[in-house]
Amino acid sequence: MVKQCAAAAVPLVLLLLGTGSSDAFTSSPVAHTSKQHRHSTLTMVATPEAPQVSSAAPLTMDEYSKYVQTTYGRYPLTIVRGKGCHLVDKDGKEYLDMVAGISTCALGHADPELTSAVSAQMSRMHHISNLYYIPEQGRLAKWLVENSCADRVFFCNSGAEANEAQIKLARKYAHTVLGLDLPVIITARQSFHGRTLATVTATGQPKYQKDFGPLPSGFEYVTYNDIDDLRATVKRINGRAKLRALLGLPKRGVAGILMEALQGEGGIVPATREFFAAVREICNETGALMMCDEVQTGMGRTGTIWGFENLGVEPDTFSSAKALGAGVPIGAMMCKAKCDVFKPGDHASTFGGNPLACAAGLVIANRISSGGLLTNVKARGEQLRAGLDRLLAKYPDHLKSKRGWGLINGLVIKDEVELLAGQVVAAATDGGLLLVPAGLKVVRYVPPLTVSEAEIDDALAKTDVAIAAAIARLREGAAK
Ligand SMILES: Cc1ncc(COP(=O)(O)O)c(C=O)c1O
Repeated sequence: MVKQCAAAAVPLVLLLLGTGSSDAFTSSPVAHTSKQHRHSTLTMVATPEAPQVSSAAPLTMDEYSKYVQTTYGRYPLTIVRGKGCHLVDKDGKEYLDMVAGISTCALGHADPELTSAVSAQMSRMHHISNLYYIPEQGRLAKWLVENSCADRVFFCNSGAEANEAQIKLARKYAHTVLGLDLPVIITARQSFHGRTLATVTATGQPKYQKDFGPLPSGFEYVTYNDIDDLRATVKRINGRAKLRALLGLPKRGVAGILMEALQGEGGIVPATREFFAAVREICNETGALMMCDEVQTGMGRTGTIWGFENLGVEPDTFSSAKALGAGVPIGAMMCKAKCDVFKPGDHASTFGGNPLACAAGLVIANRISSGGLLTNVKARGEQLRAGLDRLLAKYPDHLKSKRGWGLINGLVIKDEVELLAGQVVAAATDGGLLLVPAGLKVVRYVPPLTVSEAEIDDALAKTDVAIAAAIARLREGAAK
């Protein structure tokens, strides 16, 4: 049993559960923030690009809870502005941001190019219905197609919506091309695909589904990276086809296999090449669609534009969101021509691919193509992992391993010790470093892709201090 530590003035259940932006049950709050880092050493606030903070004082936390539903367990932190990888709270305390809105603000905060492109678009035309052709949407779709294995793009607003669109596409493909009456989509345990009813059902974690039944049917789960489990599950779902036909039962079969190239919320767990090769092979054999969720890993995060590029196979459909607009809300579902089965009226989104969001998408697309962003992701990722190795050597009793690709990495805490990722994150926040847990035992690093060498060094130094502080708090708690 985990003991309540000094940091846990907040309900113990929240520290136990971990965190995640998408993970409302699992917020790991910070119990207190020290004042020692309050004095600014950065000049960011005074730069001309930095927008002025609204003169209206932010609501207190109590007022906030009076008006905003408590779907998130929030840190007691009100961030009011940022520049690059740095954020400032309402009291002027600075933070180094290794969260980036959870893998979203790929260009950091207040990026001048993003600011000017979005502002210019806003003053030209920010929204127009998809009843008309939208130039920025066309250009972003062209870039996405030219920079992936996809042939066509559908735009929406979020990761869940992009996955919802994949699921609908796979079901329509199954009905109209594979001739299935009862299409099944296989996903992985510990996956995360969103919060709509279909995507939360696709998410292979019961804690997200609890109390939301009845859930839509047509989803089955396998253990991630377990080829035997996957093959056996496909066989079971597709099996007895002749007998079912003889009995006049509806035709059941696998419509698609939806996987993250690297499980983000599930604890920064990369897929193996063998597993993804097997998924591709099974889809080729059965006609099912290979579907990828690139919401957290896409748009350069892993050092390649798409996470699946690290695994040497191409999916038939995949989703993107988070970094696609570098923090301006946009999602996309991409597919190969063979499964481009949506016809007018089949699926739609009022805001999807509007000029404002696509103008943002074009900025990051351009930076990936010509701005050296991926080179930085690879170099900074290696630097970060080398530093995490040093921390592993320094805290062998508490730390177990590190894992990740590019700039999505996790520092894994040993199962057998009481220390939780939420406690390290709490201590880091006190020390001016924003990190985010990925489950109970993994401290996640997903900084802006523009992060500098000095900032990674700083993050590592601050992590070192945070780990020591979190261990000390645990010991103090145990001694009481
Ligand atoms: C892999 C993955 N898929 C889907 C989602 C859901 O995205 P959104 O919160 O934009 O709906 C997330 C969010 O964390 C994610 O990490």
